[in-house]
Amino acid sequence: MVVSESQRKAAEAQGLANGARSLEEQAAGLQSVNPEQARYLFAKARQAYLDVAQAYQDAVKAGGTEQEKNNWTHSLNLYVKKARALAPQPPPRIAVRQGGGSETIDDAFEIKPEKSDITFAQVAGLDSVKEQIRLSIIQPMKSPALYQRLGLKAGGGILLYGPPGCGKTFIGKAAAGECKANFYNVKINDILSKYVGESEQHFNAVVESATKNAPSIIFLDEIDALAVSRDSADSSHTTRLVNQILSSMDGFASQADKPIFWMATTNRPWIVDPAIRRPGRLDKTAFVPLPDRAARRKILELNTKAELVRLGPQDYDLLADSTDGYTSADLVFLTKEAKQIILKEVTAEGKPERPAVLNDFQIAVSQTKSSLLPWLNKAKAELVKSGEISEYPDLIALIKKYSQAN
Ligand SMILES: Nc1ncnc2c1ncn2[C@@H]1O[C@H](COP(=O)(O)OP(=O)(O)OP(=O)(O)O)[C@@H](O)[C@H]1O
Ligand SMILES: [Mg+2]
Repeated sequence: MVVSESQRKAAEAQGLANGARSLEEQAAGLQSVNPEQARYLFAKARQAYLDVAQAYQDAVKAGGTEQEKNNWTHSLNLYVKKARALAPQPPPRIAVRQGGGSETIDDAFEIKPEKSDITFAQVAGLDSVKEQIRLSIIQPMKSPALYQRLGLKAGGGILLYGPPGCGKTFIGKAAAGECKANFYNVKINDILSKYVGESEQHFNAVVESATKNAPSIIFLDEIDALAVSRDSADSSHTTRLVNQILSSMDGFASQADKPIFWMATTNRPWIVDPAIRRPGRLDKTAFVPLPDRAARRKILELNTKAELVRLGPQDYDLLADSTDGYTSADLVFLTKEAKQIILKEVTAEGKPERPAVLNDFQIAVSQTKSSLLPWLNKAKAELVKSGEISEYPDLIALIKKYSQAN
């Protein structure tokens, strides 16, 4: 039997319809268990139904008998209806507000500007990162007039990269606290996964709010998520969002009276789109390293300020010595583990309260380990594959020092 072009298209539409229905079923099944994932799948099913309708339209256009055309038109209308039924109801509303407020909006994408109360004093070590942030963000924000007189453009941004748990997000918040800027904490993954198709709209709302409330820092946390999903089925969403981010960076860099600064973070700089790192965009890069001995000591101190857990100076020295290779987050975790020892004694074993001693922390050290190694091994493999080894000497040094032989 000869299959006409229009019949071929109709068969294709039927195949697409099966896929769309199964997506809708999956979404329905997930609704009570994982509403976020369900919403995501409903959005995909909706798009899939639209694709089906398009395929039937193509079939009608390609010809066929009157009977066939009637059937396909009927199907076309049916699938448009199905797509409509899956339109988000009510459409997600965007609420970007200053300082909270009483309005509650279900399902709203909401990024409120944060007023950070963290400052550089609470960030142990990372002196060169602080210096770079001071030069390129804090100073221009504090003295825009000087920058104008020097003919220097305020704006641009910094890409912070480095192993997980070493303070990238933390220092971003501290930067905002230092210059009392509004801090827009945009986790790329949240934008992408929750709001397929609406990512750019939400991103725009953030930029608009940041402009209105300038000076602001727009913090794009875990920006590699953009690259990761570019390989996936949703690549067009991601590409559109990347373009939106690029044009926002270009457009706002020049407004000296309303400076917006960009900061972004990643553990995998080698997969970040090079276009995002061009001049005027995230044109500076800062490596956020593992805490050195002095920083480890300070992080331990900062996290043991409460009455029962303060240690002596030599205790901190010893602990700093025995935690080489720990990330900052590992150290915070270690102090929690030590505190748990006392908590358990008091609550579960009915023992009296007592101040913590070095031994509690040493037990915690023996029970915890650095989270760096598994990451380093993975990073090493990716970096080698990317062919960009020479661009990241800091990481290579870290890998050389700590990585286990494979
Ligand atoms: N330099 C530091 N000084 C004091 N505390 C720190 C420092 N760096 C990190 N911390 C502590 O460790 C926690 C984890 O750090 P943070 O979330 O900033 O890591 P990150 O580099 O963003 O990690 P990831 O790549 O996994 O997102 C912080 O919330 C903070 O409590
Ligand atoms: Mg982080």
